[in-house]
Amino acid sequence: MKPKIYVTRHLPEVAFDKLAAHCEVEIWDEEFPPSYEVLTEKIRDKEGLLCLLTDRIDPQLMDAAPNLKVISQCAVGFDNIDIAAATERGLPVGNTPGVLTDATADFAWSLLMSAARRVGEGIEYVKTGQWHTWGLTLLLGAEVYGATLGIIGMGRIGQAVAQRASGFNMKVLYSDAFRQPEAEANLGVEYRNLDDLLAESDFVSLHVNLTEETRGLMNARTMALMKASAILINTSRGPVIDPDDLYDALSSGEIAYAALDVTDPEPIPADHKLLSLPNCIIVPHIASATISTRTKMAMMAVDNLLAGLEGKPLPNQVNPGV
Ligand code: DGY
Repeated sequence: MKPKIYVTRHLPEVAFDKLAAHCEVEIWDEEFPPSYEVLTEKIRDKEGLLCLLTDRIDPQLMDAAPNLKVISQCAVGFDNIDIAAATERGLPVGNTPGVLTDATADFAWSLLMSAARRVGEGIEYVKTGQWHTWGLTLLLGAEVYGATLGIIGMGRIGQAVAQRASGFNMKVLYSDAFRQPEAEANLGVEYRNLDDLLAESDFVSLHVNLTEETRGLMNARTMALMKASAILINTSRGPVIDPDDLYDALSSGEIAYAALDVTDPEPIPADHKLLSLPNCIIVPHIASATISTRTKMAMMAVDNLLAGLEGKPLPNQVNPGV
């Protein structure tokens, strides 16, 4: 008999077919995620769970599924899952690192360029019929070439963002819990403590995991250290930036611009005050959203799930040793 599994959202066909060949799959095929209550009901008789970052996977939910053998997250980040609780219960948790590094780094750059050169405002300007002539001082932006880029979090994605900066002849600073001698040697990046990085950078790009240490890392104090001309880019997790403090910093001119792929809350309501600001671009958490990357992520999540169902170590396991 095939093991019963639950999948919390539509998957690319190739990934679904691989799952269906090995498992009895029940899938939540709606656009919006299943509610916590629905998910709790659905996984009661399941041995495997393939979930997304929008699903809260807490101890109660794990306890509702006595047959559960594996949790496979289709994302690299896993702050929606209580890993300590999964480990206590002997549940391996998988994620999808590596395959989304380039897509995410490319997108961080899309945001950086869009904010620097005011692309969103330009589109709006044309669409609203304001474009009547060429103007010498129209929509002036920030120079990217030769500027200083500060990267907070020099993991895989941070390094990929740094690599791309060499084409723009940028000085790249980084801050991280650990010094990265290899990245310093290979990419020419220079270490700074957080405060110095913020004070020196023209662009600050966030690439940290969401943890208790990084929650609210960008707040009134840290944003006050940034240059008034600085641009803040976030493709990590929304709560790394305090949204009220960001609003104040952007509306008072303490910093120049923000470009966010992720928000707190997420999704951000259409009437949120940040959306009223001309100097803030917000897109719906799409940094890894290319056809090829999302397909690879789904395949990785499937492989993690299948390994867990067989009682094998997951190819990418967040809590090794379980
Ligand atoms: C992740 O994988 O954690 C991203 O936020 C979505 O791809």
